[in-house]
Amino acid sequence: MSLLSVQSIVCGLMLYVFCVTVNTHYCVPRQTVPYQSNLKLFKEEGILNYSTMLMRDDLGLLLLGAREAIYALDIDNISIRKAAVYWRVTEKKQRECTYKGKHSEMECRNYIRTLHKVNDTTMYVCGTNAFNPTCDYMTFGNGQLRLERKLEEGKGKCPFDPFQRYSSLMVGNDLYSATSINFLGSEPVVLRSSNLTLRTEFKSSWLSGPNFVYMDFVGESFNSPEGDDDKVYLFFSENALEYDFYRKVTVSRVARVCKGDMGGQRTLQRKWTSFLKARLDCSLPEPSLPPIVQDVFLLKHNDWAKSVFYAVFTPQSSLSQVSAVCAYSVSSIRDIFNEGKFKTPVAVETSHVKWVMYTGEVPVPRPGACINNAARKMGMNHSLDLPDKTLQFIRDRPLMDEAVRPLTGGPLLVKKGALLTRIVVDSVSALDGKKYSVMFIGTENNSILKAVNYDGEMFIIEEMQLFEKPVPISILRLSSSKGQLYAGSEFGAVQVAVSNCSRHKTCEDCILARDPYCAWENYSSQCLSVRSLSPSSNVAFQSLQDADVAFCPLSDPVAAVNVTLAPDNNIQLPCQLHSNLAEARWRFSGRVLSSNSKYYIYSGGLLILRASESDTGLYICDSVEQVKGKEYNRTMAAYRLLLRSGPAVKDSTTPNTEVMNSTEPIHSTAAPELQATSEDNNPKPPETQSDPGKVTRLEVAVALLSLLCLSLMGVIFWIWTRGNLECLKLSHGSSSSEPKQQSAEYSHIPSRTSEIKLLGPESQRPCSANNNHTVVDFKGNGENHFTPMANISSLDGLGFINDESEI
Ligand SMILES: *[C@@H]1O[C@H](CO)[C@@H](O)[C@H](O)[C@H]1NC(C)=O
Ligand SMILES: *[C@@H]1O[C@H](CO)[C@@H](O)[C@H](O)[C@H]1NC(C)=O
Ligand SMILES: *[C@@H]1O[C@H](CO)[C@@H](O)[C@H](O)[C@H]1NC(C)=O
Ligand SMILES: *[C@@H]1O[C@H](CO)[C@@H](O)[C@H](O)[C@H]1NC(C)=O
Ligand SMILES: *[C@@H]1O[C@H](CO)[C@@H](O)[C@H](O)[C@H]1NC(C)=O
Ligand SMILES: *[C@@H]1O[C@H](CO)[C@@H](O)[C@H](O)[C@H]1NC(C)=O
Ligand SMILES: *[C@@H]1O[C@H](CO)[C@@H](O)[C@H](O)[C@H]1NC(C)=O
Ligand SMILES: *[C@@H]1O[C@H](CO)[C@@H](O)[C@H](O)[C@H]1NC(C)=O
Ligand SMILES: *[C@@H]1O[C@H](CO)[C@@H](O)[C@H](O)[C@H]1NC(C)=O
Ligand SMILES: *[C@@H]1O[C@H](CO)[C@@H](O)[C@H](O)[C@H]1NC(C)=O
Ligand SMILES: *[C@@H]1O[C@H](CO)[C@@H](O)[C@H](O)[C@H]1NC(C)=O
Repeated sequence: MSLLSVQSIVCGLMLYVFCVTVNTHYCVPRQTVPYQSNLKLFKEEGILNYSTMLMRDDLGLLLLGAREAIYALDIDNISIRKAAVYWRVTEKKQRECTYKGKHSEMECRNYIRTLHKVNDTTMYVCGTNAFNPTCDYMTFGNGQLRLERKLEEGKGKCPFDPFQRYSSLMVGNDLYSATSINFLGSEPVVLRSSNLTLRTEFKSSWLSGPNFVYMDFVGESFNSPEGDDDKVYLFFSENALEYDFYRKVTVSRVARVCKGDMGGQRTLQRKWTSFLKARLDCSLPEPSLPPIVQDVFLLKHNDWAKSVFYAVFTPQSSLSQVSAVCAYSVSSIRDIFNEGKFKTPVAVETSHVKWVMYTGEVPVPRPGACINNAARKMGMNHSLDLPDKTLQFIRDRPLMDEAVRPLTGGPLLVKKGALLTRIVVDSVSALDGKKYSVMFIGTENNSILKAVNYDGEMFIIEEMQLFEKPVPISILRLSSSKGQLYAGSEFGAVQVAVSNCSRHKTCEDCILARDPYCAWENYSSQCLSVRSLSPSSNVAFQSLQDADVAFCPLSDPVAAVNVTLAPDNNIQLPCQLHSNLAEARWRFSGRVLSSNSKYYIYSGGLLILRASESDTGLYICDSVEQVKGKEYNRTMAAYRLLLRSGPAVKDSTTPNTEVMNSTEPIHSTAAPELQATSEDNNPKPPETQSDPGKVTRLEVAVALLSLLCLSLMGVIFWIWTRGNLECLKLSHGSSSSEPKQQSAEYSHIPSRTSEIKLLGPESQRPCSANNNHTVVDFKGNGENHFTPMANISSLDGLGFINDESEI
């Protein structure tokens, strides 16, 4: 192959990659915090799957459930193990399980799945126990964990299959659980185990192949003028009933039951009379099947109506890599259950049933409602008194017609790359007196993202790597009072502080990080945790919304480092930026450098190819970061290139071949002063020092091969920078009043021609394309076989079958 053809291929590839990046500019974490070996880690040799946690602030413990083991760890340092208890399957149980066709070492073990507090001394624990779920009581006393061996049947409380998702919750003495009740995993239930046990009907209209992810309690009876009851909310995904697709489609749901439910007298005996469910809407910017809920967190507010559920969604199709976070207010979910219309099944052909909006008369008391003052006035003091008409209605129609819309109309965060797995949210008081919801989101790739949505602008403060290996985060817990996060994975559990403000060394770093936990303290000139500031004696600054560094003291000028050049050698000048969102701009004798046959600018610095006498002078590296449309410009490094006095030492081959053949880093040709660099703003050593040779060769190769297409890319880059470097913009408008009228406003980047069109208001393409394309059509999308009018991003209100026929 000729050099020319190689170059054109590389050029084409680079252009392609560049265009792809331009068109899908999703949120990038501002900083990446690599794995640190000083994290507080807990693991025990030979024990795997650390995926159940119970925080006991009262005992100062974190209870950690793993495979066949439960640990009591110091909640302030989980590396300190206070006690442990092992609960292994018996050989007999393991054998039985293996006979039934399950994997002996993987499935026929006891995975601890349920850990709840019963009272101050006692906990309730369940394990899969080789496909034979079993529960027990556990106590912590005298520094010992002890299983009581009062074994109880665990069916319906804990899954059989360790790979199946489940959820459970202890409210008072009642255990609410959502899991499968049989060996095959084919009979899903939502169960309340108490002296009056209630469960769901085994009907596909109630639950159809569900994947349960989360449950929580909302005390809605508190100060309720209607005399309402407390509720338990459940999040899951299941096969859709309501769509007329040829293939199975999964949808995300929220369901709820009333705490005081006692079942019906004749109809729905020992079944929920208050089980209602609705679809959760979270529209991804790309046309896709509805995303699937993976985890939820309830950010509690003193006024329960202002509490908010944050939910993580991942794509249904493996073709997509875009995950999202959507938030739903408790009051909007409640409104749909309390006032929304129901869906009802209609037989359209002999065997085919469609679900349409029910427009007939709804019985009184309203089906699915908790017992409230109005019902009591009618002489109904508990659900046993409800009339058959109400109960029959809800037995056949547990699904609401309308979907629950996100609080902000669309996602709070859209992220491409490693899928998101778990979420917790902290409400942080900032110096401006406002509270900010900081999301911590676990990924499939061992990290957690720390993100905030500033008035519609998505911002990922940082991505922290918590484990050495790329394992999924399988559980995430937050202790807001201690400011600590606890994350579990297959190989261990890790504890990390919600923030480390001391990582930001300068005022600009501290402010541009836009971390609500951190503020710049003027007298000590340090980035400090807001919580550690004493209100009277400290002068501290934050600028979360605007990232305005105007009040930062002028930083000292960066002292230039002397570098001696040997003619005809390559010279590398390192310049480490503090932000993934920043870009390096190099200045030399009054002009801004760009990559060309002489210079190659890469992420770690500047490469001067075949330096000569004319290259002596002052080189300055500025970090230019775009924040909210403004440019921040800081000098990160400065070098003075001097000519070596005397003859050049090395007079061998040409530098290019030398470098490409050499395993030595390029800067070995630079003067020793460079390595001795230790400035205040210390530019970290270039990548080539940690990985000599490999990177260098690659970079030089890229440098040379890319020169041809740089001019072309320059044009594209110019267009790109005219566009948008920020993440997604969402309108924050009146969310509750008019949820359907979303005037979501996305920033634009130049449109590209696209055959994909989206339909409906919530099908925007954040950070990627323009708003004009708004109708989905599946042409050319081989995977989908839907009716052409089918819309994926916004599935209702779209003339599916909403023909409003009277039923
Ligand atoms: C437990 O950990 C092992 C080892 O990484 C993994 O292969 C397995 O899938 C995990 N099991 C569950 C149920 O998560
Ligand atoms: C946490 O505990 C471990 C084990 O005792 C200890 O090595 C480590 O120094 C402790 N870390 C802190 C921050 O106290
Ligand atoms: C805690 O609950 C257990 C199990 O229900 C019970 O045996 C024990 O007496 C209770 N302890 C206290 C202090 O209430
Ligand atoms: C269930 O137990 C509670 C207290 O433990 C009691 O008040 C209630 O009457 C019991 N209900 C039934 C149906 O037995
Ligand atoms: C409901 O409770 C009220 C007061 O608690 C009582 O007067 C009434 O008889 C009860 N009704 C029924 C049907 O039990
Ligand atoms: C996962 O992390 C590894 C390194 O930790 C990285 O090389 C890989 O690209 C990441 N994968 C994704 C999908 O982000
Ligand atoms: C916080 O960051 C600083 C600077 O990187 C580091 O030295 C320190 O160990 C970190 N603290 C914790 C608790 O991780
Ligand atoms: C911050 O401190 C510097 C010097 O330490 C001082 O000049 C400046 O006025 C202070 N800024 C404010 C707003 O107090
Ligand atoms: C760098 O070189 C300049 C000019 O030769 C000289 O004035 C200066 O002192 C040198 N600086 C250092 C830190 O060596
Ligand atoms: C950054 O600021 C300096 C002076 O403050 C200016 O000379 C330089 O041109 C600026 N760089 C860029 C890239 O705007
Ligand atoms: C290194 O140089 C030698 C001789 O100049 C050449 O034969 C060899 O192919 C080169 N290796 C690489 C990897 O370029």
